[in-house]
Amino acid sequence: MTVEIRINDDDSLEVSGDFDLLDEEGDAYRHRGKIRLCRCGASKSKPYCDSAHALINFESKVRG
Ligand code: FES
Repeated sequence: MTVEIRINDDDSLEVSGDFDLLDEEGDAYRHRGKIRLCRCGASKSKPYCDSAHALINFESKVRG
């Protein structure tokens, strides 16, 4: 299954598919479906986005 990572404007990285998210020690968090990863640094639930980006007015628009 393909894993897709979408860079949302002024928001998180949205990862869709069936994949393992590994911590520094290689321990895996198995995911199926869709998650949002923080890219603003403000989340209190890292590595996941908790929508704190809106509180800090995070701005980032990435275009290929
Ligand atoms: S991107 Fe949403 S809390 Fe950081």
